[in-house]
Amino acid sequence: MRIILYTGKGGVGKTSISAATAVRAAQLGYKTIVLSTDAAHSLADSLDQEIGYNPTQMAENLWAQEIDVNIELKNNYYVIQKFISDYLRRQGFDPIVAEEFAVFPGMEELFSLLKVREYSASGEYDVIIIDCAPTASTVRMLSFPDAIRWYMTKFFHIERKILKTIRPIAERITKMPLPSDAVYFSVEDLYLKIQEMNDILTDGSVTTIRLVINPEKMVIKESQRAYTYLNLFGFKVDSVIANRILPKDLEDSYFKKWLKIQDKHLETAEECFNPLPILRGKLFDEEMVGQALLNRMAEDIFKDIDPTGVLCEDKSMEIIPSGGKYTLRIRCPALKKEQLGVWVKSDELIIRAGSYKRSFILPRTLALVPLTEANFVDGRLEIIFGGDKDERKKGAVQPSL
Ligand SMILES: Nc1ncnc2c1ncn2[C@@H]1O[C@H](COP(=O)(O)OP(=O)(O)OP(=O)(O)O)[C@@H](O)[C@H]1O
Ligand SMILES: [Mg+2]
Repeated sequence: MRIILYTGKGGVGKTSISAATAVRAAQLGYKTIVLSTDAAHSLADSLDQEIGYNPTQMAENLWAQEIDVNIELKNNYYVIQKFISDYLRRQGFDPIVAEEFAVFPGMEELFSLLKVREYSASGEYDVIIIDCAPTASTVRMLSFPDAIRWYMTKFFHIERKILKTIRPIAERITKMPLPSDAVYFSVEDLYLKIQEMNDILTDGSVTTIRLVINPEKMVIKESQRAYTYLNLFGFKVDSVIANRILPKDLEDSYFKKWLKIQDKHLETAEECFNPLPILRGKLFDEEMVGQALLNRMAEDIFKDIDPTGVLCEDKSMEIIPSGGKYTLRIRCPALKKEQLGVWVKSDELIIRAGSYKRSFILPRTLALVPLTEANFVDGRLEIIFGGDKDERKKGAVQPSL
C-alpha cells in the first residue's frame, strides 16, 4: 500500500495534482482513493463529478471522498468535546463559544487524516492520495501527534492517578466537573488511534509527501520551510512538483521576461531541495478540470514514471555510529542557528526549531551517552552524542544540557 500526501502554498495546484495522480494511478491498475483533509473541499470541482461523504466510485479503480469533518469530530471527539465545553460553560463562557473553543485549530484536518489508519487496516486500497490544506496547516496537523504524545506521557497518566484520589473532595470544593473515566477512556482511545496513524505516516516505505510549488520566490521559501519541519518530524518527502511552468517557445517579450524569472527560481529550487527530484508541470492554456484533462496533466508531470512509486530514497533522518560517538542527522535546509535549541532531559531529546518543538524518545544507546555537540553541515542538523566534550567545534550550536 502507498499513501501520498500533497501539500504546498495556497493555490499552487495541490488539488489538481492530487486528483491527476489518482486518475493516473487508477489507470495503471491500482485501486486508488483520493481524499482531502482540507475542510474547503475542491476535489469534486477538480474531478468535475459529485463526491459523497463516503468513498464514491469515479471510474474503474478510482474512488474519491470528501470527508465530513463534523461526522469525524462526533465519532472521535464527542465525549472529550462535551467535557471541555461543559467545563468552559461553568467558567462563564457562552454555550456556543464554549463548544467552538473545545475544538482546537487543526483538529478537523487531523480527524480527516485518521481515515488513513482505517483504510490502511482494511487493506481496501492500493493507493491513498491525500490533498492537504496549505503548508502551514499541514505541518501543524502532522506535528500534532508528537505534541499529543508528549502531553499524554508527561501529564495524562500522572494526573489520572491523582484525580482518582482527589475527585470526591475536589468535586465538592470546586463545583467544577472533573474528567470521568469515560472521558479518560476516550482520550486514551483517541491517543492510540493518532499514534497508529502517525506510525503509518512516518513509515517512509508507505507514506511520502510531495511539495507542490510554482516557480516563485515566496512559494519556494514557504515550501522549503515546510520541508525542514516535515523532516524534523520524521516524514519522508520524496519529490517537489513545480507546477505552472511557462512553455519555452513563447515569443511575446512580456512572457519571455517571466520565463527568465521562472528559470531562475527553478534553479534555486534545484539547489535548496537537493537531492529531491523536481518534476515539472507546464501551465496549460485552460483550467485542468475533469478526468481527461487531469490525465493529461499527470502525463505531463510524471511522463512514464509510475506516480505511485517512492520517488527519492534519501533518508531525512539517520543515526551514524563511529568511534564511540553517535551522530543523529536530520535534513533541515531552511533553518538558521539562531532559530534552534537542542537539549536532553533524561531519555528525551528536545529540538526547538522556529515555532515548533519536537521531542524524541532516544534509543537506549543514545540516552546513555551525553549530548556533546550540535552543528549544521550541508543543510543538515547534526547532533553528536558521546565523544569528548572538550573537542567541541568552534561555531557549533552549543546544546544546553
Ligand atoms: N498547470 C496548470 N495549468 C492550468 N491550470 C492549472 C494548473 N494547475 C492548476 N490549475 C488551475 O488552477 C486552479 C487552482 O488549482 P488547485 O485548486 O489545484 O490549487 P490548490 O493548490 O489546491 O488551491 P488551494 O490552496 O486553494 O487548495 C484550478 O482552477 C486549476 O484547474
Ligand atoms: Mg486545493
